Amino acid sequence: MKEQILELLSKAIPDLTTEEISGLIEIPPKPELGDYAFPCFRLAKTMHKAPQVIASEIKDSIGEVEYIDEIRVVGAYLNFFLNKNIYVKNVLDSALKDDFGSSTEGNNKTICIDYSSPNVAKNFHIGHLRTTIIGNSLYKIYSKLGYHVERINHLGDWGTQFGKLIVAYKKWGSEEEIKAKGIEELMRLYVKFHQEADNDDSLNDEARAWFVKMEQNDEEALKIWKWFVEISLVEFKRTYKLLGMDFDHFMGESFYRNMTPDVLKKLTDANLLTESQGAKVVDLSEYDMPPALILKNDGSSIYATRDIAAIFYRKETYNFEKCLYVTGQEQKLHFKQVFKVIELLGNEWAKDGLVHIPYGLVSLGGEKLSTRDGNVIYAEDILLEAISKVKEIIGEKNPDLENKDEVAEKVGVGAVIFNDLYNQRIKDVSFKWSHLLNFEGETGPYVQYTYARCSSILRKLPDFVLSSDIDYSVLNDESSVALLKEIAKFPSVVKEASERYEPSVIARYAVDLAQAFNTFYTQNRINVEEKNIRDARCTLVAVTRRIIKDALDLLGISVVEQM
Ligand code: ARG
Repeated sequence: MKEQILELLSKAIPDLTTEEISGLIEIPPKPELGDYAFPCFRLAKTMHKAPQVIASEIKDSIGEVEYIDEIRVVGAYLNFFLNKNIYVKNVLDSALKDDFGSSTEGNNKTICIDYSSPNVAKNFHIGHLRTTIIGNSLYKIYSKLGYHVERINHLGDWGTQFGKLIVAYKKWGSEEEIKAKGIEELMRLYVKFHQEADNDDSLNDEARAWFVKMEQNDEEALKIWKWFVEISLVEFKRTYKLLGMDFDHFMGESFYRNMTPDVLKKLTDANLLTESQGAKVVDLSEYDMPPALILKNDGSSIYATRDIAAIFYRKETYNFEKCLYVTGQEQKLHFKQVFKVIELLGNEWAKDGLVHIPYGLVSLGGEKLSTRDGNVIYAEDILLEAISKVKEIIGEKNPDLENKDEVAEKVGVGAVIFNDLYNQRIKDVSFKWSHLLNFEGETGPYVQYTYARCSSILRKLPDFVLSSDIDYSVLNDESSVALLKEIAKFPSVVKEASERYEPSVIARYAVDLAQAFNTFYTQNRINVEEKNIRDARCTLVAVTRRIIKDALDLLGISVVEQM
C-alpha cells in the first residue's frame, strides 16, 4: 500500500519527484504513529513555511480516502492510519499469490557469480565456507528476481604452487599415500617442499621449471596436475553436497591458461604494457595503485592474468549484466587493479558491471573445533560437527522424532549457514556453538522451529483449505496486524538484499517474521469454534509458513516439518 500512499503524496506535493517522496516515506516504529509516516522537514526549506503548516496543507489537499481511516499531523510528520480491513485484504491478496516476493526485473538479464573457488591441494577452509554461503544466497536472491544466474567456481587450480607440488611429490610422495589421505597428504608435501627449499634454493628453480612445463602443455606435468585436481574435487564436492549447494561451472584458473597470449595482445595493442625487471606490467600509478603484474619474467601468467582472461571469456559467453566476485577483503586491491585494466582497455561496462563483494573473517572466539593433521580446520568437519551436536540435542529433547538423521543434517547445516549470514557480510563472524545452536536466539534453528510449528498447527487442522475467500475483519487485532506488516515487507526485503548484495537483510527479516508469528500465536488461539476466525487465522499461519520457507531458501537453508 506504500504505492498508493506514494500516489496520493505525489499529487499533493508537486515540489518533489515521486522518487524523492518514496525515499522519504517511513514505516513508524510504533503502531500509535500509524502505518506510514511522511516527514515534512525537507519541504520546509523549499516552501519557506513551517513543516507543521505544510503537513496540514498536504493533509487537506489529500482529503478523504476510502482506504485511509485517518491522516494525523504530529509535529512535522504526517501519520497515515490505514483502514485495517482493506489493509489486511490487500496484504493477504498479494501474499497468497505464488509469485509473492518474485519479480521480473531480471528477465533477460544474466548475472555471473564467481564464488567459493577453493584452491586445489589445499583445504576447503572456513573462509571458503563464507564465500560459498554468501555466493549461493546471492544466486538464490537474483534468481528470485528473475535474473538468469551463472554460478561459477573459479577453482585455484593453476600457478607456480603446482610446480612445487610436482617436485615434492616426485621426491617425497607416493601414489598410495595421496590416494589414502587426499588433500591432507598434498598439504603435507607442500609444507615439506617449503621446509626443504629454505635450505636448497635449487628446488625453487625445479618447481618453476615444472610450472613452465605445465604452461607449455607438457604431457607428464599435466597428467600429475590433473590428478591433484581430481583428488581435491572429490573432497570439495563432499562439502558442497553437505551444504546442498551446486555450481553451473567448475571452471578453474586453468581453463583460461591458453588465453594469456590474447590478453597480452589486447594490452599491447592498447599500448598499456610496460617492462619492469623483465616482467610485463600495466602501470596504474595514475589511479593510485601499484602496477598490475601480467607476465612474470619467466614468461608465466599469474592470478591476475587469468582473471583478466576470465572476464573477457564471461562477457563474450554469457553477456552478463554484472559479474560478482565474492572473496575476502584481502583481495580488494587485486580486483580494483583487474577491473581498472579491463576499463582501460576501453570497456565502459567494467565500471558497473564488475563488482567485488568482500566479507569479514571468522573468529573462533576460543571455540575448539576439531582439526586434522597439521591443525587445519576443514569446512567439512565444522558441518559434520554441527550435525552431530544437533543429533545430541534431538536425542535429549525429542528422542522419538522420525527421520532424526535428516532433521539433524538440515538443522545443523542450516545453523552454520544462518550464523554466517545473520550479520552484515563485511563484519567478522564469531563462531560459537552455544550461540548458533540456540533454539531461542536469533538463529537458524529458531526460524526453522517456527516453520515446524506452523506446519504442526496446520497438520492438526486437516480440513482447512487455503483460499482468499476469508473474513478479513477478524484479523484486525494488534498482533495479527503486526504479523501482516512483516509479511507485507517480503518483496522489498528481497529487493534490498539484492541491491546491497547483502543476504543478512533476509536473515534478519526471517527472524523478525518468526518473532511476529510467535507473538501472534501466543495471543491468538487458532483452533477456535467459529469457522470464519479459524480459517482466517489458519490463512495467516499458512502464509507465514510459506514465506519463512522462501526466506530460508534464499539463504540456502532447508526446512523440516518436525524437529
Ligand atoms: N582461489 C581464490 C582463493 O581461494 C579465490 C578466487 C576468487 N575468484 C577469482 N576470480 N579470482 O582465494
